Amino acid sequence: MRPIKICVLEGDGIGPEIVRQAVRVLKAACDARQIALYFNYALLGGAAIDVAGTPLPDATVAQCKASDAVLLGAVGGEKWDSLPSALRPEKGLLGIRSALGLYANLRPATIFPALQSASPLKEEIIRAGVDILVVRELTGDVYFGEHARKQENGYETGYDHMQYSTFEVGRIARNAFELARKRNRRVTSVDKANVLETSRVWRETVTRVSQDYPDVALNHMYVDNAAMQLVRNPAQFDVLVTGNLFGDILSDEASMISGSIGMLASASLGDGTLGLYEPIHGSAPDIAGKGLANPLATILSAAMMLRYSLDLPELADAIEKAVESALDVARTADIRDPALPVYSTDEMGGFVAGKVKELLEK
Ligand code: IPM
Ligand code: MG
Repeated sequence: MRPIKICVLEGDGIGPEIVRQAVRVLKAACDARQIALYFNYALLGGAAIDVAGTPLPDATVAQCKASDAVLLGAVGGEKWDSLPSALRPEKGLLGIRSALGLYANLRPATIFPALQSASPLKEEIIRAGVDILVVRELTGDVYFGEHARKQENGYETGYDHMQYSTFEVGRIARNAFELARKRNRRVTSVDKANVLETSRVWRETVTRVSQDYPDVALNHMYVDNAAMQLVRNPAQFDVLVTGNLFGDILSDEASMISGSIGMLASASLGDGTLGLYEPIHGSAPDIAGKGLANPLATILSAAMMLRYSLDLPELADAIEKAVESALDVARTADIRDPALPVYSTDEMGGFVAGKVKELLEK
C-alpha cells in the first residue's frame, strides 16, 4: 500500500491537544498494519490569522488538496471575535469546506451503551434506541449566499441570501439515499417548504431523486417539527438529510441526545475520496491547555477518516471498539462517572492508542 498523506489543521483552543491524541491513535492503528503515514501540518482559523493575517492561507488549501485526508481540531476564540466577518476564524472553516468541494457533512449521533445515563432524555426514550446519521448539505444555502448591510428606511439592515439549486439538492439527496442503503433504509428530509421557496425546490428534488431508490423509505418533515421529534422520539430517525443552516442547528440538538458533544465525530465529503474529519464540538478556549478536553470525538473522527477516505474499515472498527473499552475504564471530566477514574486528555489518548494496538495485534 502506498504511504498515506494526512493534512493536519490543529486550529485553536483545545484543537492542538485533541488532534495530538487522534494522530497518536492513527499512528498506532497504521503501525500495527505496517502502513506508512505522513502528517503535514497547516494553519487554519485564529492560528492562521495570527501568523499569516488570514484565516485560510492559500498554502493551507494547497496542502489539503495534496493530501488523502484532512484532520481538523476546532477553530475560533474570543481573541478574534471582534475582527470583521471576512477575517474571522469561522470564515477559514467555511472556506476550506468550500475550496475542497466538501458538500456532504455526515454527523452520526448514537449513544454509547456506557453513556446512556449521560443523556438528558428520559431512559424510556433512549431505550428505544438512538442511531441517527445527520447528512447536512455543507457548501450552499444562506451560508454561502450574499451577505450585506444596507440603509433602509433610515435603519441599518442586514441581508443574507438563501438559495438552493436542484443540482445542489440532488447530489446531497443521492448521498443520503446511498448511505441509508447501508443502514436502515429510511430517509427523513427536513425543510421549511410551508414558507421557503428554497425548501420547495429542496422537497421536489429529494422526491424526484427518491424514485431511483424504491428500496429506501422517504418522509418529509418541517424543521420545527423535526426539532421537536428529535427529543420526543429520536428512534424514528435513521438518515436525516437537510440544508446547511437547518443541519447546523439540528446536528447540535441530535448530538446532545447522546449526552456529550465531546463524543461526536463528523466527516465532510465531496465527489472524490478526499475528506475532512473533525469533532462537532468547538474550540473551548476556556479549558485549552489544561488537559481537560475530551479527545474521543476527534479520535472517532479519525476512525471515520479510515472508513470513508482511506478504505481501511478494519482499522476504523478497532478504533471504535477501543473507544468503547475506554469508556468502561475511565472518563474525561466532561463525562465523569463517580465510579471511574478521571483521565486527562493525554491519558485518554494513550489508553485508546494502546487498546487499538492490542486489538490489531491479537
Ligand atoms: C459547525 C459550526 C460551524 C458551522 C461554524 C463554526 C461556522 O457551528 O461546524 O457546525 O456553522 O458550520
Ligand atoms: Mg454548528
